[in-house]
This record gives sequence, structure tokens and C-alpha cells, in this order.
Amino acid sequence: MMAGAGMIAAGSLHANGNVEVEQLGVNNTLVRVTGSGYLMLPVQELNEDARINVLVDGKIAETIYVRLAQTKTDYVVPFDLSPYEGKNVILDVVTPQGRKSVRDAKVDVCWKGLELTDTLDLTDRETKYRPVYHHTPPYGWMNDPNGMFYKDGVWHLYYQYNPYGSKWQNMTWGHSSSEDLIHWKHEPIAIRPDGLGSIFSGSCVVDGNNTAGYGEDAVIALYTSAGVSQMQSLAHSNDDGMTFEKLPSNPILTLETEARDPNMFWNEETGEWNLVLAHALDKEMLFFTSPDLKTWTLQSGFGKGEGCQDGVWECPDLFRLPVGDTGVYKWVLLCNINPGGPFGGSATQYFIGDWDGKTFTADRDASGVIPTKWLDYGKDYYATVTWSGAPDNRRTSIGWMSNWQYAADVPTTQYRSANSLPREIFLFEGADGELYAGSAPSPELLALRSRPVVDKSNVRLGVKPQSYKLPAVNPDVCEIEFTLEAADANEVNITLTNKKGENVRMTYKPQDSTFSFDRTESGLIDFSDEFAGVTVSPTFEKEGTVSVRLYIDRSGIELFGNDGQFTQTNLVFPTEAYTTIQFASTGGNAKLKEIKIYPLSI
Ligand code: FRU
Repeated sequence: MMAGAGMIAAGSLHANGNVEVEQLGVNNTLVRVTGSGYLMLPVQELNEDARINVLVDGKIAETIYVRLAQTKTDYVVPFDLSPYEGKNVILDVVTPQGRKSVRDAKVDVCWKGLELTDTLDLTDRETKYRPVYHHTPPYGWMNDPNGMFYKDGVWHLYYQYNPYGSKWQNMTWGHSSSEDLIHWKHEPIAIRPDGLGSIFSGSCVVDGNNTAGYGEDAVIALYTSAGVSQMQSLAHSNDDGMTFEKLPSNPILTLETEARDPNMFWNEETGEWNLVLAHALDKEMLFFTSPDLKTWTLQSGFGKGEGCQDGVWECPDLFRLPVGDTGVYKWVLLCNINPGGPFGGSATQYFIGDWDGKTFTADRDASGVIPTKWLDYGKDYYATVTWSGAPDNRRTSIGWMSNWQYAADVPTTQYRSANSLPREIFLFEGADGELYAGSAPSPELLALRSRPVVDKSNVRLGVKPQSYKLPAVNPDVCEIEFTLEAADANEVNITLTNKKGENVRMTYKPQDSTFSFDRTESGLIDFSDEFAGVTVSPTFEKEGTVSVRLYIDRSGIELFGNDGQFTQTNLVFPTEAYTTIQFASTGGNAKLKEIKIYPLSI
């Protein structure tokens, strides 16, 4: 068996069938498969994609793109034969590499590596960097979380998924579910590509009034069919989102220009469905209404020339939130953008304003401008959207913990990318009198805490660093909570380090009301020129006091300041876990009002 580090292994190889390879030319090969279980496909990451038409009883059942190995196998991915049980399966493979002769083509290592197995061994082979309490796919590539809904105590999370490799391709809706937003169960793939294209991001709603005609409480998904063009398609589920049936007359919504990532919700006030669609290249959001989720009428657009315009607009979301206890409600329009983020690459910007069911009107600041605002000031927080139907009026969100600049290059193989922790979005007034959206860790996360290994208060800080040890066991899986009083200091430096001196250096500047995160010496950084760098956020206060919660999970750090009023999400790849956190102040004394370090166990 070929499995090694970073791979999915065949559980038990079984001679319950066979695989015959017939070369038809320098770049065309037929693979005849008789049997059941999984056909393991050898992948070479840096190769180009081979196009595989899966012929079932002579008809193309699906087309997948796989970087089939030419000179070496980096890992294997399983092709599930169960939908084709008892049928004649032939893979018609077109490989990309130029070959001089069929003899050359025959020696590609992928052909010998095609093996049948009846079970998969999905043991995690990348324990060094795979997060423990963040959601990750079982194997393969993941980008945007999408289609999330809550029903009957279960949080459903779908995601942009490539089951056939650890780079972007074959977009499919992967599916996970959770009863507590912490423990995620891998569910079978929910929606697969078809003749209209691959399945890009979208949203789901529970159709409580049976407006679409699929039954009360049917789950309706709208997603982008991405072929030559982008169109919006509908599918429904009568088994709570486990399997979906596509509308035979898809697509249901087409435009003459690129539009994607439909996000829909029921509008209580107008009694109809609303939909926001990213008019990606036009850098605006389009708004539609519908009585039945199938026929959509364009009402308006928002955003042309507004906010950050430095990249395509993607993955919208629109929802209403209270402004503290004032009794006032405002609408928040999430508008993910790539590139153009505050520190390069992808990021989530948002607008606050009013929505009357047809038109979004953004609030202007004191100078009459619609301000650009960012939901998270790290480099690794994108495609943020929220759960439909979350209980207790919660606005629970999740983002993709990576950045399009280097997501395909990060040093993991068996899986690529994690999602952020679930967060509750809320509105607050900053010290400048402006309204902002913050995101706090979902309360369920408190259950991860064990007894703190450090619990100190009122520690005076000065130039000499004050050090605390992270938990002795799994120091890379912990939560650190601290409050600084630093009105008299120029800056407070907070440094996470390991024995090799790799470090993350955070700096609080009370006079500027900023907090920064420097990962230039954090460990592995040279897999991409875009990775190393410093991110900075405003702290939205003027008191010289800041409280921080740091969630550390092997290869990612989420920083929540002042209960989520500012956040920074950044990946880090230390070659050994950070074991210490140090605090020092310059330009005056500061106080560590409180520090607690919690081991986390899942
Ligand atoms: C955002 C995005 C979406 C699209 C998806 C494709 O990251 O580009 O606009 O639906 O990824 O995977």
C-alpha cells in the first residue's frame, strides 16, 4: 500500500475487483474498474490536472479533475464507487503532460498506484498543524463555509470542498454537523457538480411555510452553478440537509455578467424572501425578492464605487441586529472582498445601514462618506457568513481561516484549511461615536476550558519581561485571557515564544488605541512571500485598557479584543509549539490586571 505521511490510507486492500489500464495514446488512457469500494487515485501536487470523465454504462456520469501523479505520489485520494455499484465503470483519462510516445506515458506512476479498497483509513497524519477544536475537512481542500442553517438542535455547516486533492478544484458542498458548535461530525458530501458546472457557495433556509412546495420545513439550498458562466441553482432536502435533489429546470436565475454566492433569508416585515447576490466583477451586491424561492425579481444594487473596491465582491450576507439596549435596530451587509483586505489578499468588509426589503441604504460618517469597515483585522478570516435560523436571535458566524494569497501553499497536505471558531456578531458604538460590528467567541467555547494553569492578577509590568508558561501538555491547544491597564505606557509587548526563539509579537499602543500581531518570526513563513507580516487593528477605546482572549490551536491564533470589539485571525506554523507568553511595557509602567491560561480539551 502506498500511503505515507500526509495521506489517506486504504483501510484494507481487498481483491474484490480489478483495475485494467489501457493506454490509447500519449495522453489518453482508459481505466476499467470492476468491483466496489473506493478506487485510490495517486496525486502529485505540483502536476497539472488530468481530466477524468467517469463513464458509467457508456454515459458520462461525472467529470473530475485530479493532479494524477507522473513521477512521484504525494498522496492518494479515494474515488467512491458506491453510487455505481454493479455498473460498468470506465475512467476516460486525459493527462496534461506532453509525451513523446505511449511508452513514456505508460510509466507515469499513477497507473500502478490505482488500487481498490473497501474501507478508508482517515487517521489524521498531520497532527502537528491540524487544529484540534477548529473545524477541518476529513481530507482534501476546503474554502468558504456556506449554506449554514440550524434546525432541531443541529448546526449544519457546508463548505467549498475538493474531495480529490488538497488544492482548489471540483467544487462540491462538503457537509459537517454539530450539536454544540465544537464537535463536528463529518457527513456525506451534500451536493456534487453536474452538467451546469461545479457547485460554488450559496445558502440554505428552512422553508417553514412550504412556499417552494417541497413540504413544510424542507431545506432549500441556492448555490452558484459555475460552468463557463455563473448561474444560480436550487436544490431541496427532505432529510434535514443530508441529501439534496436539484431542480431539473436549473438554473433559476441568470444574469449577463458574473454573479455568485446567493444568500437568502425570510423577511418578517415584508412577508417575502430576500436574496443578496454578489455581482463580483462589478463590485456591488444585487438584491432580489421572491414569494417562493424559485422566481426572483431584481430590486436594486448597492456598492458601486463604495467601500473597498480593490477586489472582487463575494459571499454576501445581510441581517438585522439590535444596537445595544437602545431598542434601535440596524442592518449589517457583509461583503467579502478579494484581494483588497487591509493587509493584502482576502478579508471581510461590512456596511451598516437600513434595509426596507428592497433597498439597502448605508450609514454615512460625520463627513458624509460611507466608511470602509473590517470585521477582522487578521490576514486569515474570509468568506464570513452566518447561520440561518440560529436560536435565541443569535447571529452566529464562521469564516474561512485562510487567505487566497497563499491558501494552496500552506504546509499541510492531507487537508488544507480550517474554519474559524463560531462567533456571535453584535453592534457597538466606538469611542469615535461610530457604529461598528464586533464578533465574540460563541458561548459554547467556554466548555473547552480546563482549570487554568496560570491565574494571576495585579502584576506590575516594566521593561523586564514577565513570563508565564503555557500548559505543559499540548501548549499549542490553549486559551489565554488577560487584561492590561496601560494608560501610562507607550506600549506593551506580548510575546509568544518556543525554545527555538520562534515567536509571535503582539503590541498594544494605548496612545494610538491599536493592537498589532507580528508573525514575521513565527516559524515556517517562506512557503509564500505574502505570509510574513504584521497586522494591526484599532481597539475602539481611549481608556488605555484592553482585555484579550487568545485562542491558540496548533497552526492558528484567534485574538478577540474587548469581548470581540476587535479581532485578528492569523495562521502560524511554528516548528515547535510556543511554550511561553511574556509581557513587558516601555515608556512607563503598565499593569497586568489579570491573566488566566486555560488548557483546552475537546
Ligand atoms: C470565495 C469564492 C466564492 C465562490 C467560491 C468558489 O472564496 O471565490 O465567490 O463561490 O469561492 O469556491
